[in-house]
Amino acid sequence: MASGAAFVAPPTGAHAVAPAILAVRHLAKSIGDGSAALKVIGDADFIVREGEFVSLVGPSGCGKTTLLMCLAGLFPLSAGSVSFVGAPVDGPPPGVAVVFQDYSRSLLPWKSNLDNVLFGMRRVEDTDARQKRERARELLASVGLSDFERHYPWQVSGGMQQRVAIARALASRSRLLLLDEPLAAVDAQTRAEMQDLLLELAARYRQTCLLVTHDVDEAVYVADRVLVLSRRPTRVIEDIPVPLAKPRDQIETREHRVYLEIRHTVLTRIRAMKHASP
Ligand SMILES: Nc1ncnc2c1ncn2[C@@H]1O[C@H](COP(=O)(O)OP(=O)(O)O)[C@@H](O)[C@H]1O
Ligand SMILES: [Mg+2]
Repeated sequence: MASGAAFVAPPTGAHAVAPAILAVRHLAKSIGDGSAALKVIGDADFIVREGEFVSLVGPSGCGKTTLLMCLAGLFPLSAGSVSFVGAPVDGPPPGVAVVFQDYSRSLLPWKSNLDNVLFGMRRVEDTDARQKRERARELLASVGLSDFERHYPWQVSGGMQQRVAIARALASRSRLLLLDEPLAAVDAQTRAEMQDLLLELAARYRQTCLLVTHDVDEAVYVADRVLVLSRRPTRVIEDIPVPLAKPRDQIETREHRVYLEIRHTVLTRIRAMKHASP
């Protein structure tokens, strides 16, 4: 078990001073009208800094997907504000990419895997067609799919499709990547590999990521900071830095005292919510 002090990152890392690229202020969201309205988000208030990997963890049905859609400018807010790089979000902002939970519906089935990644670059303007193709091939290689460029999404496994979707999101050169339970549908072994792949890609491309998950272990393992959401109408009830050095390790990180303490705190908070009356 690795528990040396060197494995813990200093508390004042680069992220502590990096500027906020996403600021969510008192966001509320109800779905439906009048007496049938369902209050999904009560009061979400947090920021994400440039270069951070932030996890949003909360119970199923608490409003995680709704919140992500609001941040991506795909749902109008009922109250509060979202700003991205200082500008208010009132539609899908250029510079934000989303990886949806349901990869089978997010990839274009009539395009090859390579063409799906190229599709992610359609708004990139300073690169010619040949350079785009090279970059798309490089991205597919970085997610381990060089041998599947010409295959169609429906010809490869679920985990591979989600890797194509991640490569496509990276291809758009977005400053912020929003990921909605991207690993929920893959088996445990693939899931662990893809957590490490996400961390490696985030480091390689200095990608700011906000990952939504209901899996507490996953949330703590990948993140620089964990935001814990309450039940519906949801709000952020904890904002916990994860001062564990990177690269993370599936065995050693998960045995580390700091990891176990944070996991304990998050699980205790979530269990307390379950037992509290609504
Ligand atoms: N379009 C919709 N119409 C009605 N209810 C919805 C709609 N979208 C979500 N909900 C409800 O809002 C709540 C939060 O949903 P969601 O954001 O998908 O939660 P999560 O992603 O945390 O599981 C759920 O109770 C869900 O049934
Ligand atoms: Mg969801």
